[in-house]
Amino acid sequence: MDISNERQQKIQNLEEKFNKIDQKLDTHLEGLLWQKPITYWDYIQTDALLSLQTQRTTLPDEMVFIMYHQVNELLFKMILWEIEQVSYAENLTTEFFTERLGRISRYFDMLTTSFTIMQDGMDVKQYMKFRNTLTPASGFQSAQYRLVEFASTDLINLIDARYRENIDRNTPYEHAFEHLYWQAAGKDYKTGKKSYLINEFEKKYKKEFIDFMQEYNTLNLWRKFKQLPESDQQNESLREAMRHYDKTVNITWVMGHFNAAKKYIESESGPQEATGGSDWKKYMLPQYQRRIFFPELWSEEELANWGKDAL
Ligand code: HEM
Repeated sequence: MDISNERQQKIQNLEEKFNKIDQKLDTHLEGLLWQKPITYWDYIQTDALLSLQTQRTTLPDEMVFIMYHQVNELLFKMILWEIEQVSYAENLTTEFFTERLGRISRYFDMLTTSFTIMQDGMDVKQYMKFRNTLTPASGFQSAQYRLVEFASTDLINLIDARYRENIDRNTPYEHAFEHLYWQAAGKDYKTGKKSYLINEFEKKYKKEFIDFMQEYNTLNLWRKFKQLPESDQQNESLREAMRHYDKTVNITWVMGHFNAAKKYIESESGPQEATGGSDWKKYMLPQYQRRIFFPELWSEEELANWGKDAL
């Protein structure tokens, strides 16, 4: 049998690949004979994916709510994936950094522009009924959203503005964790007692969060930026990409989210409580949270007016 040079080369490459892991090429070739051809549905796991939408009520718009949250979680995963590529890149260049930030921002842009699916895409009366079956769960309990934050910036920028002066890079992670800005939404704002919502969240994720905080202490996007040579840090495209990302996550998304929440929660008369029970109106505004991933990349004036233009 004539075997082309090209094929011979491929066989040799395969031989080397399997030798390296003490495997026999012949066994793998025999396996190929019996392997099922792949299909779209097996590869994408469509059946598994489409079996994850379980309603708690009979109201059709609850489906919109569930599926849109799931789409969000998938996009958060895509964002975390790209951040990891930047964080672990060998010989990080400004081109690669900028290109990956572009991907990340495109995903977050999708999340911000599509928030109207929540704001306009659900019947208010239905929402007000099915939300009662979701209490005390809240999007606040999205672990991936928190991971995106930890992976994006230094911890100090995620600390509640009221405690920043007493916390620095030597503060133990456990202590820093207790002073993260979002702890405020998990506490009764009058008594300071932690709510069931946050206690459950911490029971499930606190250990993972502390490990992740430690891992990204030197690998987060801001650290990676600061580790670049000074001249690279002045690269205009990179700086613009960083600023765009910061603004999209911390102002545009936050305002889209706030406006959706406002529409539904305020659609009822009487006391307006969020499912998570936070002092939501104050807590959710960027102006109040002052969550900024890359403060050094903004002017004094921009910092002073953070989130005000978006109101
Ligand atoms: C009608 C739709 C929505 C409403 C009314 C709403 C409402 C709220 C409220 C009131 C809070 C404050 C914490 C609390 O007391 O629960 C909150 C937090 C949060 N929600 Fe939503 N939300 C909606 C959609 C979404 C979606 C689609 C996501 C995407 C995963 C999401 C993710 C989050 C996150 C990550 C937080 C914590 C934000 C932070 O700590 O700054 N929410 N939401």
